[in-house]
Amino acid sequence: MESCLTNKKIIIAVDGFSSCGKSTFARAIAARLGYIFIDSGAMYRAVTLYALRHGAIDGDTLDERRLVSMLGDIDIAFRFNPARGASDLYLNGKNVEREIRSIEVSRWVSRVSGIGSVRRQLVDMQQKMGRARGIVMDGRDIGTVVFPDAELKIFMTADPAVRAMRRYKELKEKGDETPLAEIEENIRSRDLADQTRAISPLRQAPDALVLDNSHMTVEEQMAWVEEKLHTLGCL
Ligand code: DC
Repeated sequence: MESCLTNKKIIIAVDGFSSCGKSTFARAIAARLGYIFIDSGAMYRAVTLYALRHGAIDGDTLDERRLVSMLGDIDIAFRFNPARGASDLYLNGKNVEREIRSIEVSRWVSRVSGIGSVRRQLVDMQQKMGRARGIVMDGRDIGTVVFPDAELKIFMTADPAVRAMRRYKELKEKGDETPLAEIEENIRSRDLADQTRAISPLRQAPDALVLDNSHMTVEEQMAWVEEKLHTLGCL
């Protein structure tokens, strides 16, 4: 990996399995460095929500052709929400941060993110967001496809049962009573779909550093990454 002068902004790619705490971790790194944070999964979720709301997903059928024809009508933007200390996702001007986390969207998002035209459109947007560097982006293909030249690549993993419990608590706090077993099943099937899809499957970039956070606190993860940032000369 390249070295980073203190005042030179770099790109940090955080990839890994779903519900590993990638976004929490990536957001904390961005805050530490004064960088922009982008949750790329939120963008795939926004396209999925649009498909659900506009009839491209109906019952248990996804009409890919219909969804692809709608892509030009989908506007995605991030706006900082000071109350949350994070950016909220806006779909065609409306804040949908809560809606994109629903179990219904989670159920369909792997299918939607497997569509080539969807990926091309979102990857293009993501690359534009990173043009000025100084960005931390989390997702599945950030270190492999979106920013293969990222100076720091982190690949996160954690035990599926631990991940399910984390997501269960998160949803419960928001009043969503989805059973733990259903969440774990969703996580396992998304892992499989993410790893086996034809386009941009989830895989570790050869130059990525692996972080298994099954039994690590956010503070411990920060200490781990701060050491890497010191080595790169970013802190
Ligand atoms: O990180 P998440 O669980 O919110 O991501 C939602 C889905 O989007 C997940 O099933 C994988 C997909 N995704 C992707 O294919 N590529 C990305 N860069 C980010 C997410």
